[in-house]
Amino acid sequence: MVSEGSEKRRVCILGSTGSVGTNTLNIIRQNSSLYDVVALACGNSLDILLNQIQEFKPEFVSVGSPQVARDLRQRLLAPGARPPHVFYGIDGHRDLVRESEPDVLIGAMAGIHGLQAVLQAVRQNVPYIGIANKEILVMAGSFILDLLKESRSELIPVDSEHSAVFQALMGNEKSALKNIILTGSGGPFRTRDVADFKRITKAEALKHPNWVMGAKITIDSATMMNKGLEFIEAIRLFQVERRQIKILIHPESIIHSMVEYCDGSFMAQLGISDMRIPISLALAYPKRLPLDLSKQLDLVQWQSLHFESPDYHKFPCLRLAMEAEALGTEGPIILNAANEVAVQKFLIDHIEFTEIASIVEQALNHFQGTPVRSLEEVIELDERVRLWTSPWNVQSFYSAVEV
Ligand SMILES: NC(=O)c1ccc[n+]([C@@H]2O[C@H](COP(=O)([O-])OP(=O)(O)OC[C@H]3O[C@@H](n4cnc5c(N)ncnc54)[C@H](OP(=O)(O)O)[C@@H]3O)[C@@H](O)[C@H]2O)c1
Repeated sequence: MVSEGSEKRRVCILGSTGSVGTNTLNIIRQNSSLYDVVALACGNSLDILLNQIQEFKPEFVSVGSPQVARDLRQRLLAPGARPPHVFYGIDGHRDLVRESEPDVLIGAMAGIHGLQAVLQAVRQNVPYIGIANKEILVMAGSFILDLLKESRSELIPVDSEHSAVFQALMGNEKSALKNIILTGSGGPFRTRDVADFKRITKAEALKHPNWVMGAKITIDSATMMNKGLEFIEAIRLFQVERRQIKILIHPESIIHSMVEYCDGSFMAQLGISDMRIPISLALAYPKRLPLDLSKQLDLVQWQSLHFESPDYHKFPCLRLAMEAEALGTEGPIILNAANEVAVQKFLIDHIEFTEIASIVEQALNHFQGTPVRSLEEVIELDERVRLWTSPWNVQSFYSAVEV
């Protein structure tokens, strides 16, 4: 447990209005003697952000665009209040990290908007960087890890599977690790007939059997792209070969992942499906926080847990992610950008569920072989893929984030 009376940790949350962000603030609300929220960043959910500002009184905030920043400043003009300093855009999120000097950063912005801010955190040695935002690890993981080698920062995975692996590795020699077994529920369509996949509706895809999450990651779970992104994320985070990552379908989501050691031992982390568990570890690491969870894990009630192999025919996105990783640096960038556009198109009813994988596959075929040697080239390729995948989309995307 983090002990009472120790100095408060200064916390910066990127993506404070989202599912991970609000869960982080829920934990902090229950442990207010341990944390000071110094900085919050989001896109454009001003009503939620204003409530958070009122409650947690951060010194700095950052929003997605200059227009949103203008609106926010207007609404912060209440007499007597001491408003936070307002930044905006990718540069603003980065400046927010620099100015707020946090002890803990929770990276939970969807997509690539938080990349520069996380890189800034690594450069300025923010001691604990909790990473939920898998897209930036997938796209630019090798660049982040290179910077980490020169930094005193520690990356704490927040994705529940990677948090489980991180915990199963604690206190053990990395050289004794044989395999990482990433578990996945299989999503809402695990047992549905593949012939029926064309008829899958948005409402059905947005209903995850075990986890409550933001819309993008929920659709990724339904296509199993999420497991594919996690496969790439695990290679980056734990610096292992792709052949050492195994995917195991486990519909109950009780075992959040495990590792296999060279002596035949398996270490697993178990728990209920509640993101507050991995988030709290990132907030308190290397200590733990007592959490007031509504449910407890009761294995007697579960009686049996089930496991099966993934179905790559039914879920081509999982196969595509593995193939993209094998392509080289460019593969995951193409995969991630095309998938984000495709998911957005599905969410606004422009395409069918099965077209998500087709769009990603076409983009991989078109862009494979593109050299990527720097972070600038990561952003450049990401932009080109978005433009190619959906010409109308890229304009609004990049004007919002101001690359
Ligand atoms: N939810 C989970 O249980 C879970 C589990 C594991 C990993 N993750 C990962 O964690 C990340 C967040 O997931 P989530 O489910 O919390 O997503 P979410 O509910 O959709 O929230 C996304 C957050 O990002 C912010 N954002 C979007 N565009 C932005 C921009 N241009 N500039 C600044 N902020 C922007 C959003 O702000 P607005 O609300 O203002 O748009 C919101 O705060 C994702 O990378 C996801 O893969 C999530």
